[in-house]
Amino acid sequence: MEIPNKKINIDDIKVIQAPLAGVSDVVFRGLIRKYNSKCLMTTEMISSEMLCNNPNPRIIKFEDFEYPLAFQLVGHKVDKMVKAAKILAPFASMIDINCGCPVKKVVVSGDGSAMMKTPMLACEILSAIKEATGLPVSAKFRLGWTCDEQNYVEFGKALEKAGASFVTLHARTRSQMYQGQADWSKIKNLVDELNIPVFANGDIKSVQDAKKCIEISGCKGVSIGRGIMGDFSLPYRIEKYIENNEIIDEPSLAQKIEMLKEHLRLEVINMGEVNGIKFMRKFYNYYISSVRNASKYRSILVTLEKEKEIIEVLDEILSLHSQNA
Ligand SMILES: Cc1cc2nc3c(=O)[nH]c(=O)nc-3n(C[C@H](O)[C@H](O)[C@H](O)COP(=O)(O)O)c2cc1C
Repeated sequence: MEIPNKKINIDDIKVIQAPLAGVSDVVFRGLIRKYNSKCLMTTEMISSEMLCNNPNPRIIKFEDFEYPLAFQLVGHKVDKMVKAAKILAPFASMIDINCGCPVKKVVVSGDGSAMMKTPMLACEILSAIKEATGLPVSAKFRLGWTCDEQNYVEFGKALEKAGASFVTLHARTRSQMYQGQADWSKIKNLVDELNIPVFANGDIKSVQDAKKCIEISGCKGVSIGRGIMGDFSLPYRIEKYIENNEIIDEPSLAQKIEMLKEHLRLEVINMGEVNGIKFMRKFYNYYISSVRNASKYRSILVTLEKEKEIIEVLDEILSLHSQNA
């Protein structure tokens, strides 16, 4: 059966939900849509080796509201990447190639950001996937391997020539991992050299950040990851800014706590209480970062095992915050 909204019009995309392994699941994407964003969603990276070893399409199940949806593949073997892309193609609006993951166990085999050391191979994979699936293909990469080896402009130009529909640049090097500040001025160098759209990624955590990044880089749109953890309205608010310069206020603490309660409730339904509560522990910091003594509350929240107890602590945080405001 045809998936509604599967087909993507890249010109309409202003915001991309960046892939976040272990974070961005169906509940996460559903909440982004609840706050009205039309953003392009991206799955977390899917290993082409893993998918080729277990190619059962029944494990690939997505909801209509998640579309348009890019499936991100990680791997460095042309045949495996193409085979995996063909398995995903019936469910995918497009395929994204991971050329940015800095994690040791990924780069050690030549995957993720190690692909920036083999640009010809990255291009071969991209054009082979495009030809085999007929889908748009993009790539997400970093500035380069180290600060002395910043080949992002050459890499982007090669991918454009190979047929990329757009690229996303995380403005850090592999050796920076997630340290320091993303350097948005570098994104401008890529924008100036390419004819395909460039999406900026790294440290865009507010509408003001998006505004500044777009002003500095001239990028077509932004890809946001951690900024959504703790505020599902951010993609929509950035879209509104890009579309008509409208600045919508950030949610209040009370609204963020409501979001957190709903996120928790839906993950408990999705995963069951034990797993849902464990899963949610990585989010508390983001939701309550503006609260005085946030780290004290976070350390309490991560020990709790019942949804009801978590809600009691959240109510207490809100009531203390309101008294002090
Ligand atoms: C928990 C976590 C998981 C991530 N998983 C992926 C992934 O699967 N694929 C990918 O290309 N990048 C992944 N990234 C990198 C993000 O997509 C993004 O490039 C990075 O976090 C910088 O953007 P941000 O500052 O908006 O979060 C991950 C980052 C985090 C923090």
